[in-house]
Amino acid sequence: MAVDEAKLNALVGRIVEEFGAIANAPLVVLGDRLGLFRKMAGAGPMDAEAVSDASGVRLRYAQEWLNAMAASGYVDYDAKSGRYRLSDEAAMVFVDEDSPAFLAGGFEVLGALYQDLDKVQRAFTTGTGLGWHEHHPMLFSGTERFFRAGYNTHLVPEWIPALEGVDAKLRKGARVADVGCGFGASTIVMARAYPASRFVGFDYHPLSIETARRKAAEAGVADRVEFQVAGAKDYPGTGYDMVAFFDCLHDMGDPVGAGRHVRETLAPDGAWMLVEPFAGDTVAENLNPVGRVYYAASTMVCTPCSLSQEVGLGLGAQAGERRLRKVAEAAGFGSFRRATQTPFNLIFEARA
Ligand SMILES: C[S@@+](CC[C@H](N)C(=O)[O-])C[C@H]1O[C@@H](n2cnc3c(N)ncnc32)[C@H](O)[C@@H]1O
Repeated sequence: MAVDEAKLNALVGRIVEEFGAIANAPLVVLGDRLGLFRKMAGAGPMDAEAVSDASGVRLRYAQEWLNAMAASGYVDYDAKSGRYRLSDEAAMVFVDEDSPAFLAGGFEVLGALYQDLDKVQRAFTTGTGLGWHEHHPMLFSGTERFFRAGYNTHLVPEWIPALEGVDAKLRKGARVADVGCGFGASTIVMARAYPASRFVGFDYHPLSIETARRKAAEAGVADRVEFQVAGAKDYPGTGYDMVAFFDCLHDMGDPVGAGRHVRETLAPDGAWMLVEPFAGDTVAENLNPVGRVYYAASTMVCTPCSLSQEVGLGLGAQAGERRLRKVAEAAGFGSFRRATQTPFNLIFEARA
C-alpha cells in the first residue's frame, strides 16, 4: 500500500467539513420549525436571551443552537458583544419562502433520507422498489418547499414563455394538466398567473392531493384548480392545451407509457412541458455540486420509486437530454426540444 499522505489529509479534512454540514442539518430543521431563524430575520444583533425570549426556545438550547449555527457560518457572531445576527442573505435562504434562494425545504428532504435508510437498504439488497408514498412525510413537505422557490421565480416569467405560443393561450384561457403534481406548488403558481385558464393536478399519492387541495383553497385559486388522485398513465380528460410534468417523469416506472398517455390526452396542437433536473448526458458531466445532490436524491428516492412501479425503467434523476428525448420519441412525439434551462432544471417542449 502506497498511501499518499497529502491526499489522505485532504480527504480527512474534507470529511470533517462534511460531518459539520450533515450534523447541522437537523439543527436547521429545528431552527425552521421553532421559528428561531424567523425571529432573528431583520432583528439585527441579538444575544441568546433575546433569541430565547423571542422564540420561546429555552435559553440553554438557544445558546447551543446559536453557537452551532455560528460555527456553520449560517449566523454571524460578534465576539466582542457576544451577539448573533441573521444576515439579510441568510434570511433569504432560511426564512423568506418567496425568495429565489429559499433552501430550508431542502433540509427537510435530507431529514427524510436518514429516516428511510432501512427501507432503502432493503431495496438495495432485494432489488425491489420503494414508492414515493412509502417515505417519511418530511420528503413531501420538503420537496414542495424546496421546488416552490424555483417555480415562483422561473415558471411564469421564463419557462412558459419559452414554449411556443403557450403563454398567449394560457392568458386567453386554456386547459392544463399538471401530472405528478405533489402538493401542487407548480399548479398554484400557474393558476395565480393565468386566471382565465383551468388547471387540474394529478398525482397517484392521495395525501399529496389532499394537501394540494387545501393549499389551492388557501391561495384563493380553488375556483380554477382541481386536484385528483390519478396515475400518469390513466389520468382522465382529453384536449389539454398543455400537459406539464414537473420533476416527476424520472420517478415513474414507465415514462414511455406516461408519454403515450400524454400524447393521447393533448389537443392536436397541445404541448408537453417536461421539467427535469439539470443534467448532462454522461456521468462525468454530472460530477459537480448540483449533480452530487441529485445523484443522492435519485439513489434514495427517485430510482427506488421508479423500480416500485410497473416496467421499472429506473431512468434516474440525472437522465439528461439524450435519454429524455428517446423517451419522448418512443412515446410517439415528433418534436422534442430544450426550451430553456436553469442551473437546477432542464425545460423541454414536446409536440405530436
Ligand atoms: C419529486 S416529486 C415532484 C412533485 C411536484 N411535481 C413538484 O414539483 O413539487 C414526484 C411526484 O411524482 C409523483 N408520482 C410518482 N409516480 C407517479 C405516477 N406513476 N403517476 C402519478 N404521479 C406519480 C409522486 O407521488 C410525487 O408527488
